Amino acid sequence: MGDSFLEFSTRLHLFNSIQPKRHHWSSLIVSKMAPLVILLLPLLLCGTVSAWEATCSGQVPAWQRAETISLTEFGAIGDGRTLNTWPFRKAIYQIEHLQRRGGTTLYVPPGVWLTGSFNLTSHMTLFLARGAVIKATRDAWNWPLMDPLPSYGRGRELPGGRYKSLIHGNGLRDVVITGENGTIDGQGDVWWNMWRRRSLRFTRPHLLEFMHSRNIIISNVVFLNSPFWNIHPVYCSNVVIKSVTILAPHDSPNTDGIDPDSSTNVCIEDSYISTGDDLVAIKSGWDEYGIFYGQPSSGITIRRLTGSSPFAGIAIGSENSGGISNVLVEDIDIFNTGIGIHIKTNMGRGGYIRNITFMDVRMNTVRKGLRIAGNVGDHPDNKFNLKALPVVNGVTIRNVWGVNVQQPGSIEGIKNSPFSHICLYNVKFWGIKMRYTSWKCMHVSGTASEVEPWPCAELARSPASGLCSNAF
Ligand SMILES: *[C@@H]1O[C@H](CO)[C@@H](O)[C@H](O)[C@H]1NC(C)=O
Ligand SMILES: *[C@@H]1O[C@H](CO)[C@@H](O)[C@H](O)[C@H]1NC(C)=O
Ligand SMILES: *[C@@H]1O[C@H](CO)[C@@H](O)[C@H](O)[C@H]1NC(C)=O
Repeated sequence: MGDSFLEFSTRLHLFNSIQPKRHHWSSLIVSKMAPLVILLLPLLLCGTVSAWEATCSGQVPAWQRAETISLTEFGAIGDGRTLNTWPFRKAIYQIEHLQRRGGTTLYVPPGVWLTGSFNLTSHMTLFLARGAVIKATRDAWNWPLMDPLPSYGRGRELPGGRYKSLIHGNGLRDVVITGENGTIDGQGDVWWNMWRRRSLRFTRPHLLEFMHSRNIIISNVVFLNSPFWNIHPVYCSNVVIKSVTILAPHDSPNTDGIDPDSSTNVCIEDSYISTGDDLVAIKSGWDEYGIFYGQPSSGITIRRLTGSSPFAGIAIGSENSGGISNVLVEDIDIFNTGIGIHIKTNMGRGGYIRNITFMDVRMNTVRKGLRIAGNVGDHPDNKFNLKALPVVNGVTIRNVWGVNVQQPGSIEGIKNSPFSHICLYNVKFWGIKMRYTSWKCMHVSGTASEVEPWPCAELARSPASGLCSNAF
């Protein structure tokens, strides 16, 4: 107890000491979270704070670059009006072809650097100085197109190709995007309005996408107003996303924060996300295309994340066709959000969702605490196989506390593929609206203990000490 208390006070101290440097939203969170913290004090003291120091960021080595070049050496003008697509491309071309030992840093000075889409290269650091803004052109009509992902068979929102992300990397290794919290601004309203007016021709671009890449670090950068999903690592391994801020209005369509997709060893830590869609959504391809491509997402850690979204806090799926396993989500603060934890799949998806752990999740003001559902999401076309049923097996939800939660939750499996080994331990939701007091469950088996309100009969009451086992 003594040690944990010390740890807890250290944590509070740390938290307080970083306050002045934080953005305005943090004071909002602190005031909103204060009652929760008091409520949870005894729980926190009982040893759940050990995750504070834990980190997975070391899985990608951060090299010191031997050389730095500045964007201005390539004729860039940071006046917010001059288009700098060519300076970016020329600078990166030079990094690619000079192949300096240890790689090269491309320094983006303070200023507003308007640009079209550009590709990164291996062994480089894109460094955004304090006050540097990389700003996407509003010229959506000349935006480059690329092929759909093989695991999706088409663009995610429209058939055919898709627009290339503003910053793009394919087949790369050893890339760092970092700096002094400069901003990458997608000027997404142009695209959101096209979506609202139904005048989009192809699937909107991400702000940042890496394909087939490994050893990627993204840290200390602000992502603002992405046209579509913000950060999309797909077919990647060893990706660290740490100390980033991702912002988009709550009414902006499909502006997911981070979507690890058919990727392994992904580490997401110490970040703040407030967008118009899921804060983080782990995916692995879509129906028959994802099943055929067969590239799973595995070894995903999400830790110390704070955020708010009208959709989900942390989501898994609904595109899970290549399989999703070994996911650890811990020490999360979710406020003003639709569904706190959302595991979603559908018939025709195939694949699996296996060995998923959520622990130490705090919620304040959410519509629904937990939803695990087998009937969510659309299909790429009508060629999907209705008999391709996803397997959901081994989901542990423990130490989850929510205040002002309207509905506790629902766990609705699939008739011919019931969800199994679903374990809820020490899950407490307060402030439930009278007419939503009960959980809704079907086609599910597993255990529950210390859950309030008490969930459904489908989950066996396990002994009080019955922590979730890892047998699945
Ligand atoms: C950028 O990368 C894509 C592949 O991901 C490629 O099709 C395109 O030609 C590249 N663009 C440039 C300007 O090199
Ligand atoms: C950048 O923002 C992160 C996350 O908010 C913060 O931890 C870090 O201290 C900031 N870095 C600088 C150089 O301001
Ligand atoms: C389950 O996932 C965790 C990571 O969250 C991993 O450490 C563990 O080895 C996995 N268990 C099995 C049996 O694969």
